[in-house]
Amino acid sequence: MKDQISRIEQEAREELARVDSAEKNELFRVAYLGKKGKLTELLKQLGALVPEEKKAVGAELNRVKQWIESSVEEFRRKSSSAGNSSEIFDETLPGIRPPRGSIHLLQQTIQEISGIFNRMGFETVEGPEIETEFHNFTALNIPLDHPSRDAFDTFYTTRGQLLRSQTSTVQIRVMKERKPPLKIIAPGRVYRPDTVDASHSFMFHQIEGLMVDDRTTFSDLKGVLHLFLRELFGSSTKIRFRPHFFPFTEPSVEIDIQWGKGWLEILGAGSVDPNVFREVGYDVTTTRGFAFGLGVERIAMLRHGITDIRHFYENDLRFLRQF
Ligand code: PHE
Repeated sequence: MKDQISRIEQEAREELARVDSAEKNELFRVAYLGKKGKLTELLKQLGALVPEEKKAVGAELNRVKQWIESSVEEFRRKSSSAGNSSEIFDETLPGIRPPRGSIHLLQQTIQEISGIFNRMGFETVEGPEIETEFHNFTALNIPLDHPSRDAFDTFYTTRGQLLRSQTSTVQIRVMKERKPPLKIIAPGRVYRPDTVDASHSFMFHQIEGLMVDDRTTFSDLKGVLHLFLRELFGSSTKIRFRPHFFPFTEPSVEIDIQWGKGWLEILGAGSVDPNVFREVGYDVTTTRGFAFGLGVERIAMLRHGITDIRHFYENDLRFLRQF
């Protein structure tokens, strides 16, 4: 029987070395001291021994039993003082580093452009993406029969609203709420039902600009936008103004920058049409201003040599991580 005891003790020693959780600690206890535990079985046989043997074997069994009990108790104490009832917590291990994110290229571009205008005194404002026909068209001097009002060119809701097709809506909202002087830019999403391809998306980003007071002229427009484009594309950037038409500015221009041997359209702009001032309740005889709008994706694509607009929206980390 003494051999059996020392075999069990040896076995228990090896098993104890593998105990690393509260569950294993409990299984270990039951395996030796439970109702059918290995040590319990031996204790049951004690009665069959002759008295002299009983004393020696009993003492031996008790020694092993106490050792197992105190080992189990010690493990319990250690793991609860480590603040964790099921595992031993090693506070010297390094922590788990959370993965670090970064700002999306479109947002970076918006921040950079906004920063340039903010430094020229323009305040950043935002407007809603679900809009009324009044803010998106009527107040912007866009006639009822204008093609952009067609259901093929604007997303309408079933409740008589629409997804704004341009950030010019924010011009109207700000002017309705405030009096001149105003210098604002308004970045945000716009929506148009275009078929998605490498250069079109049903949703993209614009930045709108508006400056209004009693003396702003077309040369202010020219000075502000030329400075902006030189800040963004470099101090030697050449620009070109082309006559254009927008219902809400008069005169209107498209502004190109020189790009390699050719020119690339970057901005739409113009002096605010008096009809727009009239719609928001300003005195047209004393109010002057200019407005402009630009496409964020287009600028980001040009500057980074991105050839497919869909990259911006697909959340492919291989693309996003490059910026
Ligand atoms: N809203 C015009 C567009 O989406 C851009 C623009 C804004 C033009 C302001 C002139 C003045 O094309």
